[in-house]
This record gives sequence, C-alpha cells and structure tokens, in this order.
Amino acid sequence: MFEALPESKPDTILALMQEFRDDPRTDKVDLGPGIYKDKHGNTPILAAVKQAEKKLLETQDTKAYVGPIGSRPFCDSILKQIFGTNADASRIRCAQSTGGTGALRIITDMLKETHPDAALWVSDPTWPNHALIFRAAGIETKPYPYYDAANSEVDFNGMMETLKNAKDKDIVLLHGCCHNPTGADLNLDQWKQVSDLCAQKSLFPFFDMAYQGFGDGLEEDAAAVRLFADALPEMAVAASCSKNLGLYRERTGAALLVAKHSADADRALGRLGVVIRSNYSMPPDHGANTTHLVMADEKLNALWREELEQMRQRMMRLRIAFAESMRKRTNSDRFDYIASQKGMFSRLPLNAEQIGTLREQHGIYMVGDGRINVAGLPEDDMDSLAEAIASVLQ
Ligand SMILES: Cc1ncc(COP(=O)(O)O)c(C=O)c1O
Repeated sequence: MFEALPESKPDTILALMQEFRDDPRTDKVDLGPGIYKDKHGNTPILAAVKQAEKKLLETQDTKAYVGPIGSRPFCDSILKQIFGTNADASRIRCAQSTGGTGALRIITDMLKETHPDAALWVSDPTWPNHALIFRAAGIETKPYPYYDAANSEVDFNGMMETLKNAKDKDIVLLHGCCHNPTGADLNLDQWKQVSDLCAQKSLFPFFDMAYQGFGDGLEEDAAAVRLFADALPEMAVAASCSKNLGLYRERTGAALLVAKHSADADRALGRLGVVIRSNYSMPPDHGANTTHLVMADEKLNALWREELEQMRQRMMRLRIAFAESMRKRTNSDRFDYIASQKGMFSRLPLNAEQIGTLREQHGIYMVGDGRINVAGLPEDDMDSLAEAIASVLQ
C-alpha cells in the first residue's frame, strides 16, 4: 500500500544543511538554518543549561509520568517570562509542549473546536513550517501582506487593510518578536492598532514567540504579547525554549491560553489536555525540568540572562558590521535596514539566480527566499562576504 503514497519533497532547509556539510570548501559560509551559532559555527550548550542538567541528574529521583500538561513549575516560570510578574495569572493557563512547533499544533487543534468556521490569517511571508502545521491541523489559512520587499520594511498598511476584511472571530497569527523570515517587527504603536482591530472585529490573536530575548531583550520582546493580554479577552501564545535556552533537540516549549476569567481558563486547559492525551499523551521532561532549574535558581538565572544577552548583542554587532560592509561595497544605503532589524533573520533582496551563484561560485549558503541567519555572518571576514554579494547584484 505504501506505493500509493505521494512522493514527499525533502525539506528545503534540511537539504541545504546537507549540501553545506558536503561542500569541501574551507571558506564556505552558512547563512541557512535557523540555529544560533557562535564565531566558530558551533551551537554550544549554554553554561547555565549544563549546570542545571548536572543538578537534575544528581537530584532527580523518579522517571514516573508527568501528565499531559507537563511540569507545573516549568509552566509557572514560562508564564512569568512571557506575561511578566505582574500579569493576572488567574486568567492564564499553560501546558508544556514539544517545542514551539508542538505548541502551535496543539493550540490549533483546540481552536478548531472553539472556532470551527474561522480562517487563520498568516503573515506573507512566514516561517514555512507554519503552512505544514496548520494544513495538518485542518484549518484554512489566509495570507495577510506583511513585508514591503522593495523598501525592506513592514507593509503595515497592507496588513491592516487586509485584516479589516477578516471575518468576526477569525484567528490572526502574529510573530511576537523577531519576525521569521524578515526580521522586520511592528513598533508598539502599530501593535496597539492591531490590538484595537482585533478588539473591534473579535479576532483571536495567536502569538508565535520563538525568539524572546533575541530582539531588544527578554522583557522588551514580550511587550506586544503583554499589551494584547491586557486589552483583549482571549488569546493564545506558542512559546519555544529552543532558541533562547539553546534547547533545540530537547523539544521544550509551552502553549499558553488567556481567557476571560479563571473558570474559562480552566476549561480551555482541560481541552488542551485532551488534545495532548490523544496525540502524544504527555511531553518529554528533560528540557522543561532543566529550564525550570535555570529559571528558579538565582545564580543560574543570572548566568542564563547574561548568556542570552551575549547572543543578542553579538547578533546586533554582526548586523551593524554587515550593513557597514554592504554600504562600502555597494556605495549605497540599500542594506542599512539590516542594522536596525531584529532577531536572527533578515532578508536580502536577491533572486533565485543570484542566490544560486553565491552558493556555487562563492560557497555562501542561504535559503531560496534570501533569508540569512545573522548569527552565521563571518565576523572576521565580513568584507569578502559583502564583496561576493555586491558582485551578484551587478
Ligand atoms: C517562527 C518560528 N516559530 C516556531 C518555531 C518552532 O521552534 P521549535 O519547535 O524548534 O521550538 C520556529 C523555529 O525555527 C520558528 O522560527
């Protein structure tokens, strides 16, 4: 029977990773997959995480099931990290999830029940996996314009005009910070306008928070989510610990639901528990337990914040250096926007042919839409990279 299955196209980013590994050139540059990398191209385990893991190994005394919702202490920590210590936690509930991806999926499965006729509006462009996740959950998606490629900035008018046509109770997926793939974020005034529109049209905000701490800082990056939670009766957040704690393969994240009041919040969490139970039963423990230890221990927490801040600052420095090199090489301010965008990604205004030439002739790897992973920029050889990019622009 398997012969009847359609061929599955390999994931383009995973295929690009393999091509990069197989490339024998020693001066190759990897700007592809969305993983933080240090100067040497490694994705190290954070020292705070290592120490927490050691502690966990020494103190954990059971491997008994944790239950569908996962670790309560972990959820309490994440809730505070996302919504702040002054949030009205009586109307917020949290379930541990298998990374941010798992959170996106279980929340969508639940929203299918609460919003059976809703469309899910997704920014154009967005993280390609969104389409896969939402299709698998069986929800209809619609694009809203997000990026003005000609000016390398948010197309805020296009976004608002399109969302004004959304139906009552439709769902809007919003990148809470560090938009993937563009690096172009809304400012607070724009967030306020989106929040007002959601209130007016009873739209349900669904935040994807995969990069908290990579933009302007841990607290600053949560500003939009907090603004919406204060202004709107209901919303959801899919949070990931993959990037800001470097826990990628440990599959650690959280699904957070904000309800009108405590009783509704309990009811929603109960349904989420049913979705989880019928899917993978319960989440893995290691990453969540480690995260909680990092959050709860004052010293580990301070160490983690310092390490996170170092990653953030390094990406900012790389952005500035790259923009400067591009300015010199192109004799224009066309690439200045890179310096002021946020998070791990920006998009270069390159077509498929130029991207192919960079890969084939210069060993510079990036995904097909021109998205670059800022953490992969070569800090000691920015000028060679800029020169190669400038050469394909001519
Ligand atoms: C926008 C966005 N959302 C969610 C995720 C999910 O991350 P994970 O499932 O690895 O925690 C990612 C990962 O790259 C992402 O870029």
